[in-house]
Amino acid sequence: MGTNWEEFYANQPPPNDLDKSTELLKDFVEHQSENVKGVVLVTSGGTTIPLELNTVRFVDNFSAGTRGSISAEYFLKNGYAVIFMYRAKSLQPFSRRFANQNFFDILELSEIDNKRSAIVSAKYSNHIAEELFKYRQALKQRKLLEINFTTLSEYLWLLRSACQVLATLKHRAILYLAAAASDFYVPSNEMSVHKIPSTGPPTIPLQLVPKILKPLVSLWVPKAFVISFKLETDETLLIPKARGALENYNHNLVIANMLHTRKQQVVLVSRENDYKISLTNEQMNKGEEIEKYIIEDLIKKHQDFMKSGNKCS
Ligand code: PMT
Repeated sequence: MGTNWEEFYANQPPPNDLDKSTELLKDFVEHQSENVKGVVLVTSGGTTIPLELNTVRFVDNFSAGTRGSISAEYFLKNGYAVIFMYRAKSLQPFSRRFANQNFFDILELSEIDNKRSAIVSAKYSNHIAEELFKYRQALKQRKLLEINFTTLSEYLWLLRSACQVLATLKHRAILYLAAAASDFYVPSNEMSVHKIPSTGPPTIPLQLVPKILKPLVSLWVPKAFVISFKLETDETLLIPKARGALENYNHNLVIANMLHTRKQQVVLVSRENDYKISLTNEQMNKGEEIEKYIIEDLIKKHQDFMKSGNKCS
């Protein structure tokens, strides 16, 4: 049996720093002028499901935050302010380009008069400077706010707070829900307090997580432009499930993707139609990113939506 969303929030304690995060969110949103095209909440990365209150073990998923972090950059580039809500230690805009690098490989050791120091090696220096500049500019101009979560519960509490703050922006807000939120969890009142003993195979009582898109679309941000994602591994389910989500939640758009081809192809599913955005192998080899085309397309849709002021995209 699953819980409904109100039960979930009644029974799962909020993260300790929720008030602080909510203040940051309010301050960021209040600061946005009419000069930005809109404000987008990008959620990114996976969530963990702790198995113990004193957590030693947890269930996780594959999401690295690639989609979210690249998309955040393209929204910024196209004149949007971005709230980047990401899984701690997953990829972040700009620094993502160096995330696979061994940290020490980027540095050179220098020793002058017995004084050691580390400097960025010439090979990386320009590239890092470019990305660092863009990142610092986005922060300085208050176009980017980054807030992180780890567990499913932290994610859902933060998501609700962010929605409450974004609701004031009405049609100017976009929700781009690329995070891979867990579908199952262990309610905190059923969780082992201490490390589960390894004396025998444990029975772990997983419950269904309530579908949070429901209250999000109908109650929290009813006027915003809401984009959800649908991830499948069985191609025959992809479009029917994406259509099903649109019917159930009545939001603007679903971006459907398959686990193994998600970097090369997505399908944009709206009530009116569905169409593919894809990269050729040649574009992939050149290092092009599909998010560039996804975001360009979404921005057109959001600008039309703001003009017409309705839910159709
Ligand atoms: O991070 P990467 O490695 O780049 O991978 C990107 C991605 C594959 C994670 C991303 O493109 C993606 O598809 N994200 C959504 C994955 C997912 O959770 O799909 P789903 O089919 O389980 O959920 C569909 C939608 O339901 C999601 O938009 C989610 O916001 C929503 N949901 C999910 C769980 C829940 N309890 N309530 C919800 O409303």
